[in-house]
Amino acid sequence: MRPPSPVASALDAIGNTPVVQLQRLAPPDSAAVFVKIEGFNPTGSYKDRMALSMIEEAEKRGSLTHDLTVIEYTGGSTGSSLAFVCATKGYRFHAVSSDAYASAKLNTMRAFGAELTIVHSPNGKISGELIQEMISVSATIAAQGGYYQTDQFNNRDMLVGYSGIGHELLSQFPEGIDAFCGAVGTGGMLMGVAGVLKEHAQDTRIVALEPASAPVLTEGRSGQHHVEGIGVGFVPPLLDSDLYDEARAIDEALARTTCRQLAEREGLLVGTSSGLNVAAALKLARELGPGKVVVTVACDTGLKYVDEDLFAAPAGA
Ligand SMILES: Cc1ncc(COP(=O)(O)O)c(C=O)c1O
Repeated sequence: MRPPSPVASALDAIGNTPVVQLQRLAPPDSAAVFVKIEGFNPTGSYKDRMALSMIEEAEKRGSLTHDLTVIEYTGGSTGSSLAFVCATKGYRFHAVSSDAYASAKLNTMRAFGAELTIVHSPNGKISGELIQEMISVSATIAAQGGYYQTDQFNNRDMLVGYSGIGHELLSQFPEGIDAFCGAVGTGGMLMGVAGVLKEHAQDTRIVALEPASAPVLTEGRSGQHHVEGIGVGFVPPLLDSDLYDEARAIDEALARTTCRQLAEREGLLVGTSSGLNVAAALKLARELGPGKVVVTVACDTGLKYVDEDLFAAPAGA
């Protein structure tokens, strides 16, 4: 394989991520399971795709100019990606985040020169209340003037970036995809990919995922959990029920065990939401059986979580 050609800036290194087939976790009597490894993006997360499109679509409309500071409420992944894109393009960036999220993400935003406002989580957990507080702190700061709010829960510009995953999957799977699953935070990734896959083949099964301890989509009730980036405590405005076939709740402990198994048995170091995606993909693959193709994404690299407790217990635990 030829190495990629030189590029003009780090922004050109976003996307074109590899897909890896699970060799040991998917049993032979199940469908084949493939994982698109989004940790290969510059900040180690698929959020680079949406950060770039949120900034560039706003630039095209003329609503973002260099006299404005970009501001976002963020668990740290979107913030790291926005901080990276803003640093590359010369914008100031202000993140409103929380100490409930991995310190690696908070420090990554700082490394890219972002200003941070931290909302304290009393028990270190993620809940709908915490996210609402981050949203309200961000809106209060923005009201002072001089800010461009990317407002990720309501920003359809991100679908442009995420549709890239869908188009790449179409060329990586010319024979088609039987099922695609992904966890929902803003719902942007799932909607961006589902839009492309459904337009190409209406019968591709799209499955939306959430943590079982915060079953908003499956049972209509919220709850606390510690799967960063998903299970936000309400149905996100971007999530269109016409674009997915089914919602499933996945146990957080299973997601974490799957992360450790992916590292130890497949050599894939991925984050907690990615473990949740793969746990669901393996279940779908058992249901669909041999000859079928199930695809999911590893949202981000596990390097963001090695200082947390994610990889602390052995895979068998
Ligand atoms: C680590 C991680 N996984 C999954 C998601 C969910 O992605 P989306 O917001 O596109 O639904 C996010 C979003 O913040 C995230 O940070």
